[in-house]
Amino acid sequence: MDNIVPQDYNINRISRNKLKGHRPLVIWFSGLSGSGKSTLASLVEQVLFNKGIHTYSLDGDNIRSGLNKDLGFSQKHRSENIRRIAEVAKLFFDSGTVVIAAFISPLRADRETVKDIVGEENFFGVFVDTSIEECERRDVKGLYKKARAGEIKDFTGISSPYEKPLDFNVIIDTESCEIDKAVEIILKKVAPKLILKDA
Ligand code: ADX
Repeated sequence: MDNIVPQDYNINRISRNKLKGHRPLVIWFSGLSGSGKSTLASLVEQVLFNKGIHTYSLDGDNIRSGLNKDLGFSQKHRSENIRRIAEVAKLFFDSGTVVIAAFISPLRADRETVKDIVGEENFFGVFVDTSIEECERRDVKGLYKKARAGEIKDFTGISSPYEKPLDFNVIIDTESCEIDKAVEIILKKVAPKLILKDA
């Protein structure tokens, strides 16, 4: 980073948090494709939004059709995908926004990178724990069928690994937990983290 000088602006994160009236947070959903990450993330965002919390959603399929459209699904590209998203999440966090991020993010090392970039204390992990059998049974996007037929290579859970998070704040077993209950569990743990202490 030669010849790069960080610039300070008059309006900083503290000022933005005060204006918004809540603390920001990065809520990170990880799980297999079709596990229900985006559905759950969207419901959590809806409740927060209705409470007047400033939110923004980052989602695998959306980011991959824009910012990260040059990336595929090799380990190297997945790591770069997650690194860029973490940097984007950091910017949104700095803006005072509660970031709702839904990405397979299959590797522990990459999830650690996210924490390093956004700050461990600003990261709230939700593991959407749906078994590969159930994701394949649902096959909402028809991708598992294609992966089994060999039409998609490096498919998570089939021909590419998924390392389960062991240290996330919440684990949602979507096969035993009703979705409304899951939203409630997440929000109960998230709410105290959004309180602006020195407001
Ligand atoms: S990640 O592994 O790099 O975190 P990301 O969440 O951005 O993945 O994108 C996952 C989405 O891409 C899936 O929900 C699915 O719709 C699509 N997809 C296409 N090819 C693959 C693949 N080989 N493995 C997993 N998901 C894929």
